[in-house]
Amino acid sequence: MRAWLMSSYEGVEKLYLGDVPDPQPGPDQVLLRVRCAALNPADAFLAQGMYPVKPPLPHVLGRDGVGEVLAVGAGVATARVGQTVGILRGPTGIEAWGTFAEKAVVPAANIVRIPQGWSLEETAGAPLVFLTAWQALTQWSEPAAPPRPGSVLLVTGASGGVGTASVLLGKSMDQCVVALSRSAAKGVKLKDLGADFVLN
Ligand SMILES: NC(=O)c1ccc[n+]([C@@H]2O[C@H](COP(=O)([O-])OP(=O)(O)OC[C@H]3O[C@@H](n4cnc5c(N)ncnc54)[C@H](OP(=O)(O)O)[C@@H]3O)[C@@H](O)[C@H]2O)c1
Repeated sequence: MRAWLMSSYEGVEKLYLGDVPDPQPGPDQVLLRVRCAALNPADAFLAQGMYPVKPPLPHVLGRDGVGEVLAVGAGVATARVGQTVGILRGPTGIEAWGTFAEKAVVPAANIVRIPQGWSLEETAGAPLVFLTAWQALTQWSEPAAPPRPGSVLLVTGASGGVGTASVLLGKSMDQCVVALSRSAAKGVKLKDLGADFVLN
């Protein structure tokens, strides 16, 4: 298969298209034909060696994506060949080769159905940043409490991946969203996304 290969930690600009053997699914894994893959800032950090994990080289980046199930490994009962599924976190693109390739092997535990009404592009682009924002908004330990409806939510870096997800989730939770951006043009987009206030 063709894959965007990373053979140094010099950034995504140094990725190159190469041919590698097709991956095979092991037990509890599925083989996907990648339909859409998303470039996340986390991928770009990893490519510069600025991520907690440094996989052996060559590596294939890509943590987010959508693909068609081509084959399933032993013990997989939750996916069938021909299904189109999304990827929900897991080792893909970090410890294992990722979605910047024609095919990717993903743990069956990390695949999900495409939510009704979602495009393939949306399903490929949303998981990592939305799960991160969801954790920040909901997973607080005692004695702190997660923000309630009506709380003021201050989103720094609001125009980025996690930021825009936080703005959208915060509004869906009826919070008053204050979004920060250094850019007037991005500020206009943040208002369009529903931010109540945008500050530079
Ligand atoms: N992406 C993920 O899935 C993920 C997962 C876990 C943790 N994180 C962490 O979450 C944070 C945001 O990640 P991201 O992926 O959303 O990044 P991102 O898409 O690059 O967005 C970061 C935003 O921060 C703002 N920014 C950049 N440099 C700045 C500076 N010097 N001063 C003020 N604002 C600045 C920019 O907004 P303006 O240009 O509009 O000011 C930019 O849009 C990072 O710390 C990342 O490590 C990300």
